[in-house]
Amino acid sequence: MLAGKHILLIIGGGIAAYKSLELIRRLQDQGARVTPVLTKSGAEFVTPLSVSALAATPVHQELFDLTAEAEMGHIQLSRSADLLVVAPATADLMAKMAQGFANDLASTLLLATDTPVLLAPAMNVRMWEHPATQRNLETLKDDGVSFVGPNEGSMACGEFGPGRMAEPEEILAAIAAKLADGPLKGKRILVTSGPTHEPIDPVRYIANRSSGAQGAAVACALRDQGADVVFITGPAEVRPPEGVQVVPVESAREMEAAVQAALPADAGVFAAAVADWRVASASDRKLKKSKDGLPVLEFAENPDILKTVSQMKNGRPGLVVGFAAETNDVVENATAKRKRKGCDWIVANDVSPATGIMGGSENAVILISDEGAEEWPRMGKDEVARKLADRIAAALAG
Ligand code: CTP
Repeated sequence: MLAGKHILLIIGGGIAAYKSLELIRRLQDQGARVTPVLTKSGAEFVTPLSVSALAATPVHQELFDLTAEAEMGHIQLSRSADLLVVAPATADLMAKMAQGFANDLASTLLLATDTPVLLAPAMNVRMWEHPATQRNLETLKDDGVSFVGPNEGSMACGEFGPGRMAEPEEILAAIAAKLADGPLKGKRILVTSGPTHEPIDPVRYIANRSSGAQGAAVACALRDQGADVVFITGPAEVRPPEGVQVVPVESAREMEAAVQAALPADAGVFAAAVADWRVASASDRKLKKSKDGLPVLEFAENPDILKTVSQMKNGRPGLVVGFAAETNDVVENATAKRKRKGCDWIVANDVSPATGIMGGSENAVILISDEGAEEWPRMGKDEVARKLADRIAAALAG
């Protein structure tokens, strides 16, 4: 997967540094070459010897290391890799990067580089949530730096929350995504996924049974073919994929705003199970039981996101793909839906409970385009996604 790729891995100071040793192994298993850099505080957590032994190459530690300067120089070191990965990325390193400091080897490499940078932050939850770190995060994102994690969980310091470094396999997936070199490289594709939640009051909502599995699989497959994926997801059961830009939303109206904000795009895949209706006047206070009888909910129609995008006069993505969840007369209903909405393709599936598709791991779809209906055999949602990504790549190339 990463054969021939060269990763410059900067190991910062944090208890999570031990996971970076595992990351080195995993990267090598995938065929990558790793040049390790250990910060001063990183060396408090893992030894230079274990890092260089695993990487099978000397570890760089000092900015003014004369041998290294003579052999290579830190500028060249910063540019010789395909990707710079910082794991763990401490609050201090993020602050230095956001400010442009270059007072040690790691910060100098990060300032001097012209290669993409991926950070795997790891720190105490309060440090992560501190406005200063969040400000630095936004600055770095604006500068084009990518992030994987941090995850939520219990931490070595005894607290609970976001701040745990992503697991080696997640970092590996994010690295693979950054370096993906497929037919969709340079294409921006937005994917909607998951259910939407339509509030009744501050504590109750109307939702549907979509797990978000198919949308997430499509995003992964597009990412693996090199696309820049904007993944706009309602509150789904499945975790959003690594290596894509995740935009979390709750309601259909929020999803529509996020889609508009993410345009322009080369293609849009609308896999979300958007609620067709919302409660017309959601209460801003919790509804109470009353002697006057049961509450009556009035509904209003939600914006049809797929239809709106399909029928855009300006800035319509070159390829618009919808999904159709049907329980009967699948081909007829989906064909009519494609026409009504104006999208290019509809991926239709039968979601009647007996099929076990909604919330399950498999899907049986029919691809409807202007060439007619093409039935795909029942297969895993991942496989459906890969097949669809192949088709999308072919369509965008043609
Ligand atoms: N969709 C959307 N916005 C909505 C409703 C649906 O973008 N408000 C998209 C879905 O993401 C999907 C497609 O439209 O790609 C079809 O969704 P589906 O629920 O099957 O169709 P509906 O428009 O709800 O039609 P119907 O209720 O008649 O089945």
